[in-house]
Amino acid sequence: MSHAEDHAGTRRDFLYYATAGAGAVATGAAVWPLVNQMNASADVRALASIFVDVSGVQVGTQLTVKWRGKPVFIRRRTPEEIEAARGVQLSELIDAQAENQNKPGADASDANRALDEAGEWLVMIGVCTHLGCVPIGNAAGDFGGWFCPCHGSHYDTSGRIRKGPAPRNLDVPVAQFTDATTIKLG
Ligand code: FES
Repeated sequence: MSHAEDHAGTRRDFLYYATAGAGAVATGAAVWPLVNQMNASADVRALASIFVDVSGVQVGTQLTVKWRGKPVFIRRRTPEEIEAARGVQLSELIDAQAENQNKPGADASDANRALDEAGEWLVMIGVCTHLGCVPIGNAAGDFGGWFCPCHGSHYDTSGRIRKGPAPRNLDVPVAQFTDATTIKLG
């Protein structure tokens, strides 16, 4: 049974198909690959949860999907990225809040931002908290995470702001795995 059939009964939910190559596409400052989307009116889509098939996302790559009008970064981190993120002390951070809607009020330790316990998956709203540009990913910037070239904000491998004008870490939306290869947003 396909994922579309799995979720066919959930009328407010829509499915994005991640093709095998999509996760490997390097995203630019304002461009992201939006893969196949089921037909729905814009107002319904704006409120909907979506299911994202991440089976094609290789370690060390990022899939970007559009959700509720914004890009969402789904990164499958390398062991080195996880280690770097987990080695950072809270006292080194500009923003000590996790900015994780799954864990309101939690601190910004990487364990509180990653989706899974091992920390392989990181899901974030791909919008710079300075003035709203879309940061460049794939180990960009001085901290090997994301870099917003608009005014020079550097985010680390956990999406936390480390240098530049952005005041907050990249937001972590409500998200969860619904099976081994599917992430539900919202
Ligand atoms: S919008 Fe990202 S640094 Fe200004």
